[in-house]
Amino acid sequence: MQKEISKIISSVGTPVFVYDEKILLANIQRIFNAGLKYNLDDRIKIYIAYFANSNPHLFKAIQKKKIGILLQTREEYIQAKRFNLINNIVVSPSFLSDSEIDFWVKENIVVNLASLEEVKYFVNKFNQAPSFRIDLTEGSTQRTAIKEYQLFELAAFLRAKGLTPRSLHIYVGTGSSLLKMKRNFEKVIDIYRQYFPETKEINLGGGFAFNYADIDPEKKHFNWEEYFKFISRKLQERIIPKDVNFVLEPGRDVFADAGSLVVSVKRIVNLKNKKNIGTDGSYVLMPSATIRKRQHTLTFLSNEFEKLTKNNCVGVLSGSTTLSSDYLFPGEVNIPGELKEGDYIIVNDIGAYGATQHMEFLNKKPCPEVLIRKEALYLITDRGKDDDKIRYLVKSPKEL
Ligand SMILES: Cc1ncc(COP(=O)(O)O)c(C=O)c1O
Repeated sequence: MQKEISKIISSVGTPVFVYDEKILLANIQRIFNAGLKYNLDDRIKIYIAYFANSNPHLFKAIQKKKIGILLQTREEYIQAKRFNLINNIVVSPSFLSDSEIDFWVKENIVVNLASLEEVKYFVNKFNQAPSFRIDLTEGSTQRTAIKEYQLFELAAFLRAKGLTPRSLHIYVGTGSSLLKMKRNFEKVIDIYRQYFPETKEINLGGGFAFNYADIDPEKKHFNWEEYFKFISRKLQERIIPKDVNFVLEPGRDVFADAGSLVVSVKRIVNLKNKKNIGTDGSYVLMPSATIRKRQHTLTFLSNEFEKLTKNNCVGVLSGSTTLSSDYLFPGEVNIPGELKEGDYIIVNDIGAYGATQHMEFLNKKPCPEVLIRKEALYLITDRGKDDDKIRYLVKSPKEL
């Protein structure tokens, strides 16, 4: 990894997002392997949430694994289309207008509708089996999704039309624990049995927790094996027919540890009780860590790209804007006392909701992005220009 980082920095400088295709593919394979272990592989379809990273070149790499992409807006669809990424997609959006529903139907794309009103419009106009999102929260508090108390009416409406839902969709919320995921699986199975027992697809959504604090690369990930073991047991206990399939929409768990942000140390300020490390990064490059009050694990490299491992000091990581709260992420971290100006810090696990959340605020130009592949390194996004603030996606990857 250090060799690649050295080459990337000498080619494009810092700050820079770096992705590792090997890890990305392994993260997907982990899910398939767990499914295989519990004989669910033939019954599981994976659609990866586009907005978790949004770099089409990364989705190209994933596409080889024959898995689908989850979109949520028409803009995303246009982007994905430009990069030939629309072979296998599903759309789980917010509320849609009538004309937006017409658009997706015309494109022949499955959409998980988010309200009873939309389902009625869709069915009355197109007389097709609808897919829809169901709110499983205790107080029916989800912004979108059909409420449990509306299901009786919905089931009667579909019965009168002679239709069976194409898919029942749930979304539990990002960073959901295994326990929560299991509970919600049981809830959706109850709903399926009570209201829509003829349905052949249940979409379990995304939101699978990723543990940013764990240093063990395996333990960081959602426990897919335990989840599928539970699902497999429940399917037997509840005698769910074998032709009922399941869809997953993971984002975070697939991308998080496949990407990191590399920043340079510009200045070390020695204070009485800690070091304040001035970097060329900023929270605007990875705002989700600050929004979620989340610390990331760090790797420190000397300017010769040697790992610095003796984390014997305490410090904070300052961003490069003037905002008084611009720390890469909140709180103090352990840092090597020998860290000096010109060295590098790798912020790990920022492949999901990182570069895609770049903020215009404070006028930091977006970072370039580089993909490490077995055979070579590829630039997949140019650095933003000084006088502009958009993500400069390259048309096709450029070898470094
Ligand atoms: C409907 C839906 N599916 C999937 C996801 C992806 O969630 P995560 O990246 O937490 O797995 C989201 C995230 O907001 C979502 O709203």
